[in-house]
Amino acid sequence: KRRIGVMTSGGDAPGMNGAVRAVVRMTLHENCESFAIYEGYDGLVKGGDMIKEMHWEDVRGFLSEGGTLIGTARCPAFTERNGRRTAAKNMIVKGIDALIICGGDGSLTGADVFREEWPSLLDELVQGNELTAEQVAPFKHLNIVGLVGSIDNDLSMTDATIGCYSSLARICEAIDSVDTTATSHQRAFVVETMGRHCGWLTLMAGVATGSDFIFIPEKPAEVGWQKNMLSIIKKHRALGKRKTIVIVAEGAIDTNLNKITPSQIKDILTNEAHLDTRVTTLGHVQRGGQPAAYDRLLATLQGVEAVKAVLEATPETPSPVICIVENKIVRRPLLEAVAQTKKVAEAIEAKDFDTAMLLRDAEFAE
Ligand code: F6P
Repeated sequence: KRRIGVMTSGGDAPGMNGAVRAVVRMTLHENCESFAIYEGYDGLVKGGDMIKEMHWEDVRGFLSEGGTLIGTARCPAFTERNGRRTAAKNMIVKGIDALIICGGDGSLTGADVFREEWPSLLDELVQGNELTAEQVAPFKHLNIVGLVGSIDNDLSMTDATIGCYSSLARICEAIDSVDTTATSHQRAFVVETMGRHCGWLTLMAGVATGSDFIFIPEKPAEVGWQKNMLSIIKKHRALGKRKTIVIVAEGAIDTNLNKITPSQIKDILTNEAHLDTRVTTLGHVQRGGQPAAYDRLLATLQGVEAVKAVLEATPETPSPVICIVENKIVRRPLLEAVAQTKKVAEAIEAKDFDTAMLLRDAEFAE
């Protein structure tokens, strides 16, 4: 029987538990054995009790739970070869040669490095007398399949990452709440949103809440943005709007790549527009809580597809990442998706903002 491991890694995201549930149950459905690796790569390096066999009932109730119930961690040990060799040993001891990882691009890249090194790691384990040639013989290849779990929706080549729609819903709820108090006092609010170097959450929240102005990394604020923002806000006020909402992505920059900060915007709104202005940083509220229905569906469909991808993989198949493109669950080469994502950051760094937009994904390209 094949033994398939599942793990969550990097920042948690709503829907990760749904992904673990789907992977565990599809694995069992396919007559394979399922293992959960607790606390991300940390669990893989520590081994032992951190790698637990999973049964059907072990994931009962997982669908509606936020965060990740099998834990996640940043693991410095796995970034070193020694750590990866120990992880390989722990997997072989448990008989696991396929790993489905739900995480961000960093976690997925780490997994592919692991897959690439796998044969040489096994050689080292045999040479160092940590395992015998007979023990490693059945485990020639490591299968890696990625599921993208992140609130940021920052992986190119997929329309949505697991967690982004839950986070978007939470941001909209929070801004709706801010709206009522802002309207009462005729105040302005500057709301800071997460997303690391990606502006998807901010752009979508801006549209969904009808905010006055947004700042995102992919479209940096151009020279004179202060005047532009003020004139739009004044126009909205002149039309009778009693509140002003400006949303700033945490990665927002200007065209000189200087960070745009909420307090900077607050000062402009206070001093130039004479608005009573407050700053609200939404923080980790955006990442917590129950997953939205969309993320439960996405996680379930993608978890099922991930197990299929493991069972259909050949040694030659490049590691896939499970994506959703135009509402279809599809497989894409993991390394290509990660490489395209990296190119966005490179394009921003090179001040080629149009290319950054196009590379991000189809929604931005529109
Ligand atoms: O990647 C998810 C995310 O929530 C980002 O939006 C944010 O920049 C980062 O993680 C925060 O990381 P931490 O939880 O380690 O502070």
